Amino acid sequence: MTKFLKRHLINILQANEINNLFSSFDQIGEIVIIRIPDELSNSKKIIGEVLLDKIKKAKSIYRQSSVVKGDFRIRELELLAGIDTTETEYKEYGCRFNVDVRKVFFSPRLSTERNRIANLVKDGENIINMFGGIGMFSILIAKKKKCNIYNMDINPDAIRLCKKNLELNKMKGNVIPMCGDASNLINELDETADRTLMLLPERTDNFLDSAVLGTKNNGIIHYYCHIHADKKNALERATKHYFNTIKIKSTVLHSNIVRAIGPKYYQIAIDANIRK
Ligand SMILES: C[S@@+](CC[C@H](N)C(=O)[O-])C[C@H]1O[C@@H](n2cnc3c(N)ncnc32)[C@H](O)[C@@H]1O
Repeated sequence: MTKFLKRHLINILQANEINNLFSSFDQIGEIVIIRIPDELSNSKKIIGEVLLDKIKKAKSIYRQSSVVKGDFRIRELELLAGIDTTETEYKEYGCRFNVDVRKVFFSPRLSTERNRIANLVKDGENIINMFGGIGMFSILIAKKKKCNIYNMDINPDAIRLCKKNLELNKMKGNVIPMCGDASNLINELDETADRTLMLLPERTDNFLDSAVLGTKNNGIIHYYCHIHADKKNALERATKHYFNTIKIKSTVLHSNIVRAIGPKYYQIAIDANIRK
């Protein structure tokens, strides 16, 4: 996307300013979110106008004005150009999702990981998605497989949108939205899961005991973490960290880099079998 931006901004910004622009932006349906460094603040409106003009589908251009933060993992957004609406429809692997990029966590950059997990699930599984948000993982899985998924989230807006998204998609499986803290909700469940997803990488370790409690003997936990490391060492370091944290017997079945989240900083997925 940098080349695309550069081509259209070359007459507006100085060459060194263009080089300072972050390398990419996210397009989510009709909404574009871009990160603009403080040095380019004076040019933010014109950058917004260029994006609005050049990206056909875009109706709203926002600057991400804070990091992703808080329990709900959301970010502050500042309108640069277009209409001020943070709700849009996003499509992924044949599923439709209603998203509100101001009120809930959402990242199009997890789509490959979501598809990878959906392909691992087998018909008949019972699944806990501890940090399920608007139902991205859960609905993609249920679209493909006849399974039962508890989609938990502490953000009421995420659960409201999850319910809306269930109506938008025809699925083979069954998704049950649950609003609240995942640890409490797992305590209340009558059954355990064949598979538990833990996509809250900044805080996964605080919830590992609850994930173990909610998962069957020989079940699988999808554990996510953030690791500072060279790319070649990232998986090894993440695996070491996992084994230092898990208190019961466990075998790592697979690990992969989900995405880079900064220089020498990676989001890692670990699929592990647990024995209790
Ligand atoms: C990184 S997002 C993942 C969302 C979703 N899995 C996705 O891919 O779109 C983490 C989610 O965990 C939720 N969350 C944070 N703390 C929680 C808790 N204690 N219990 C349940 N959900 C929680 C946040 O509201 C957020 O939606």
